[in-house]
Amino acid sequence: MKLTKLLQCQGFGTRRECAALVLDGRVEILGEEASDPDMEVSSQNLSFKIDGEAWCYREKAYVMLNKPAGYECSQRPKHHPSVLSLLPIQFRNRGLQTVGRLDEDTTGLLLLTDDGQFLHIYTSPKKNIAKVYRATVKHPLTDAQLTALCAGVVLHDDPEPVVAQSAIARDAHTLELTVTGGKYHQVKRMVAAVGNRVEALHRERMGEFCLPPDLKSGEWCYVEPDRAS
Ligand code: URA
Repeated sequence: MKLTKLLQCQGFGTRRECAALVLDGRVEILGEEASDPDMEVSSQNLSFKIDGEAWCYREKAYVMLNKPAGYECSQRPKHHPSVLSLLPIQFRNRGLQTVGRLDEDTTGLLLLTDDGQFLHIYTSPKKNIAKVYRATVKHPLTDAQLTALCAGVVLHDDPEPVVAQSAIARDAHTLELTVTGGKYHQVKRMVAAVGNRVEALHRERMGEFCLPPDLKSGEWCYVEPDRAS
C-alpha cells in the first residue's frame, strides 16, 4: 500500500494532508524518516511514528473509553461535548462510532469502532449481549425489588416485560444489574418501575469486555474482540 493511502485510512487526514506530513519529515517508518509519500509499505504489523508519537496500523479499530459524566454519545451533540472529543482526532476521521449509547450522566465502559459488522452484532437485540451496570439507588434495595427486576418489568413503550439477567444488592444502595437489549434509559426505567430511583449509573461490562480497574475516567485503550463470539 502507498504510504499516503495507509496514513489516510488510519485517519491522519486527506491524501494531500498525509502526503504533506511525509514531505514535511513528520513520519517515521521502521525507525527511518520517510521522504517519499508514494513509497510502498506493507501494513502487516506495521508501526510508525507521526511527530514522534508511535502508532500501529489497524485495519479496524476497537477502542474502550471509560466515559466520564457530562459527555454525549453523539456525533452531533446538543448540550454537552461528544465522547469523540476525548479521543485522538484520527478516530473521528476514520469514522469511529459508539457501540450503542450511554446517557450523558452515565459513566463507564463505552466501546467505539469503525467495524460495521462488530457494531451490528454488539447492538443487535437478537444477540443478547449482556451488560453489567452498577446503579446507586435512592432508596434501600428490597428483596421484592430484586425479584421483580428478574421476573420482568413492563416499561410504558413496550408491552413485553423487560427481564434482568441478574439483580444483586452489593449493599443497601448499590445495585448490580445485568441486562440485555438497549432500550432508551433502560436501567433507569427498570429501577423506577420497581419503585426505586437511579441516582448514579456506571457500566462495568459489555459482552466479553470488562472495564479495567486502571483505566481512569476519560481514558481510553485499544481492545481486541474475540473473533469466536
Ligand atoms: N440504561 C440507562 O438508563 N442509561 C444508560 O446510560 C444505559 C442504560
